[in-house]
Amino acid sequence: MAEELGAEEILFDQSLSPGQQRNLERHLQRPVNDRTLLILEIFGQRARSHEGKLQVELARQQYLSTRLVRRWSHLERQSGGIGLRGGPGETQIELDRRMIGESIRRIKDRLQKVKRQRQTQRRQRVRQEVFKVSLVGYTNAGKSTLFNALVKARAYAADQLFATLDTTTRQLYLGEADLAVSLSDTVGFIRDLPHGLIDAFQATLQEAMDADLLLHVVDAASSNFMEQMSEVQRVLAEIGADRIRQLVVFNKVDALDSAHKPAVSSDFIEVDGQSCPRVFISARSGEGLPDLRRALAAAALDARQVPSVAHTLPAHGDDEPLCTIRT
Ligand code: GTP
Repeated sequence: MAEELGAEEILFDQSLSPGQQRNLERHLQRPVNDRTLLILEIFGQRARSHEGKLQVELARQQYLSTRLVRRWSHLERQSGGIGLRGGPGETQIELDRRMIGESIRRIKDRLQKVKRQRQTQRRQRVRQEVFKVSLVGYTNAGKSTLFNALVKARAYAADQLFATLDTTTRQLYLGEADLAVSLSDTVGFIRDLPHGLIDAFQATLQEAMDADLLLHVVDAASSNFMEQMSEVQRVLAEIGADRIRQLVVFNKVDALDSAHKPAVSSDFIEVDGQSCPRVFISARSGEGLPDLRRALAAAALDARQVPSVAHTLPAHGDDEPLCTIRT
């Protein structure tokens, strides 16, 4: 088939082990790459912050270090030329492995520093008892658009996968409850996110893990939003954030045809056996945002255990207030 189509390279929508990749290349006589590399390349193009760039670079170097044999086996040779480290007799592959190892160590050191700064900021937020809200959701669900709409900042939003790689945190003032919460945008989740990448993005996802409330943003106009929600749940479980309370936000209602438009502005939805409040919104048109703000205010007040918050809540069915659900 590759021959028929004149394909110069073959990309597998799965992760391949170095051995599989090598055997496939040998058999197919063309470069073979996998899903992990593709995701890494997209991440590489999207990362903007220092930390995001370092994380992508670390994941890329770690990926490469397992594939050195394949990349270099044809070049394996004795080295010892001017300027090359390692004495005569050290093979190219050993040199490359050593260089990558050093580079990984350097990146890890730098990441440690960035992480320490982030921890300090986090500790300050904890000390100030700020209620922490994190946006999570499948890639392209509209998290950054919603983040912008809520805090009126200009986080980058684009119709492309992983437009957000770096966690951005802003303060969000909720006049409804006269309190401020912190709102963080996080990396978009994706089906079959390779394990190595989850590790690499732990720091970015840390915000989600430390949140008091997750705003689970769902692209309601996507034909497979159910599958995307399950995928997000799976990643949340993997990073240990699946027990955090969720407020589910069905976004892009403006893109739904009238037959699919929700009849209510909010209700409840079962997520992994938990009944979670759900709000229907359009981050683009602003529809439903006041309800979302009220639900957020209610959740923040609820966490502080302020006794009477019912007046701040959007109506739900038989007057049951939104956000009284406790996990
Ligand atoms: P990642 O960074 O990949 O995780 O994406 P994201 O979830 O941050 O999505 P983003 O905000 O970048 O939006 C993705 C696309 O959906 C953009 O083209 C947005 O303009 C579009 N979008 C976001 N919200 C809405 C909405 O309410 N309605 C419609 N029609 N489009 C929206």
